[in-house]
Amino acid sequence: MMFLFGCGKKQPQYQLKLDGYGLESSKTAYAEGEKVTVTFPAEYIGTDTDYNFTADSEDVKLSRDYSGKKGYVMKFTMPAHDVTISVRSSNSMSFDPTAIDYEESEEGENTDKETDTTSVEAEPAEPAPATEEKTLVVVFSATGNTKDVAEKIASLTGADLYEIKPAVEYTTEDLDWNDKNSRTTIEQNDPSSRPEIGSEPVDLTGYTRIFIGYPIWWAIEPRIMDTFVESYDFDGITMIPFCTSGSSSLGQSGKNLEKLAGSGNWQAGRRFKGGASENEVSKWLGTLE
Ligand SMILES: Cc1cc2nc3c(=O)[nH]c(=O)nc-3n(C[C@H](O)[C@H](O)[C@H](O)COP(=O)(O)O)c2cc1C
Repeated sequence: MMFLFGCGKKQPQYQLKLDGYGLESSKTAYAEGEKVTVTFPAEYIGTDTDYNFTADSEDVKLSRDYSGKKGYVMKFTMPAHDVTISVRSSNSMSFDPTAIDYEESEEGENTDKETDTTSVEAEPAEPAPATEEKTLVVVFSATGNTKDVAEKIASLTGADLYEIKPAVEYTTEDLDWNDKNSRTTIEQNDPSSRPEIGSEPVDLTGYTRIFIGYPIWWAIEPRIMDTFVESYDFDGITMIPFCTSGSSSLGQSGKNLEKLAGSGNWQAGRRFKGGASENEVSKWLGTLE
């Protein structure tokens, strides 16, 4: 009887909280002494990015392994209290939009160290090649930073501009990255999320080159960009991603879009800080083929 009674008794459960985009675990509550595994899948791991995984309490001894297939795998034994595991990265999840900006050093991105170029006159972009080149700038921008860069690209290259407007506008509350239940947090956490586009579709006939711009949200492209690239055929078109962010690089976003689009000749692309000068944009345009 004693034995049966002991077996039936429910052990207290302690909460496992995950703080940071990408962290995963199979359960949210564990008994004391139970083995806990938390993963940070390979698809979230950016190049040239350092990740720091921490527990909020000293009695949690967090082991960390890396496997090319699974990504980072952290293990620990559940103590008799709730535990929060956090991930912070040098250039993505720990972003602080008010922090001092740094220039990119990623492959394919501009490595120019000049930071204050606002007083320098814009240099003209490369002259248009002899063959008929028709350029379109596509942009999604929630707070105007990326649209500002898009307009500079359009005016410097003589391109047309197409703005992706969400069917349901993003409110300030929707854009709150500190809120785990905000619309953007939920969308970005769900790779299958495809927010509806409200603007009229664009006719891509005749375009040979498309600049495609967006803000970085949780280290990647906003899901509405996935909606866009899955809706068009970019066959024979050179696709050039660009983004603005608080501090994150373009990261995997260009590759994600290329994969989802399944067509187009995708280039490395470039990240700008909000308020990038016309000179910075022009210099970058001059580096393109
Ligand atoms: C929901 C949300 C998530 C964000 N995530 C990141 C991020 O992971 N890394 C980063 O550097 N900036 C991040 N930002 C800051 C934006 O990328 C940055 O402010 C951008 O310039 C906004 O562009 P926009 O004005 O065109 O919308 C985030 C902003 C929002 C609203």
